[in-house]
Amino acid sequence: MQRPLAAITGASSGIGMAFARKLAPRYDLLLVARREAELQSLAADLRSRHRIAVDILAADLGDEMQLRQVEDRLLRESNLALLINNAGFGLRGAFWQTDIALIEKMLRLHCTAAARLMHAALRVLVAQNRGAVVNVASVAAFAPRAGNAIYGSTKSWLAALTEGIHLDLKRAGSAVTVQALCPGFTLSQFHDLLGEDRRRLAPPFMWMTAERVVDASLAGLDKGALYVVPGWHYKIVAAVLTKVPRWLKLRLV
Ligand SMILES: NC(=O)c1ccc[n+]([C@@H]2O[C@H](COP(=O)([O-])OP(=O)(O)OC[C@H]3O[C@@H](n4cnc5c(N)ncnc54)[C@H](OP(=O)(O)O)[C@@H]3O)[C@@H](O)[C@H]2O)c1
Repeated sequence: MQRPLAAITGASSGIGMAFARKLAPRYDLLLVARREAELQSLAADLRSRHRIAVDILAADLGDEMQLRQVEDRLLRESNLALLINNAGFGLRGAFWQTDIALIEKMLRLHCTAAARLMHAALRVLVAQNRGAVVNVASVAAFAPRAGNAIYGSTKSWLAALTEGIHLDLKRAGSAVTVQALCPGFTLSQFHDLLGEDRRRLAPPFMWMTAERVVDASLAGLDKGALYVVPGWHYKIVAAVLTKVPRWLKLRLV
């Protein structure tokens, strides 16, 4: 019997790579990211450890042609069972001081690519009435922060889109589920690429491993949870920020 397939974007490092490692015992994998060498070496390792089929697609999801190739691939995968929409990057700085090309790049990756890949995946999943999509948002989805306007708003948008699709699926009586995964500070290449010093960003207890984030997401998938916020401290942050009035939220953040 053919194994179910999990497609993971941003699988070349961090949270995406942790998803690949955790899902490999149960799924065949389709790994997507720009860095082909990293994907090749992860795929070779997972094939030899788990004797599974692992395909890679080296693609820049911010590029129209390459995004379309990934979309087409998902549409052709009849055994697709899970999409992990995870590829992303960070930006820091006041909105007007940020390079407009970088802002566009983030909108294309966090919004356009995430929506289009989810659209392609749901065509397959809803027709088969099984499977799930995990959209990797952030705790930043719950609150605006100075110096983080574009990043935070793309993650709020992704969380809101996930909520809306959850309602569409409920109304359609579908067994397919969607999850907005909202991690806080996670050890990965994310902050290295921003040139940030982790010690200055948050105390050690606020940093989670990518494996812990993925474990929380997979436990949430088993329960059909719409929102997953890994870590008790971030659960408190999210609960407070979603319950207080907007004026108080703006003061708190
Ligand atoms: N780390 C945190 O503290 C944190 C907290 C909350 C949410 N998140 C979210 O978690 C997700 C994963 O981030 P991470 O922490 O694991 O960071 P990471 O280690 O930097 O991983 C980011 C992944 O995205 C891929 N990627 C970036 N741009 C891409 C593009 N244009 N096309 C295709 N793939 C692209 C990267 O691969 P290539 O460079 O090979 O393309 C890499 O595999 C992101 O959506 C991020 O916003 C992270």
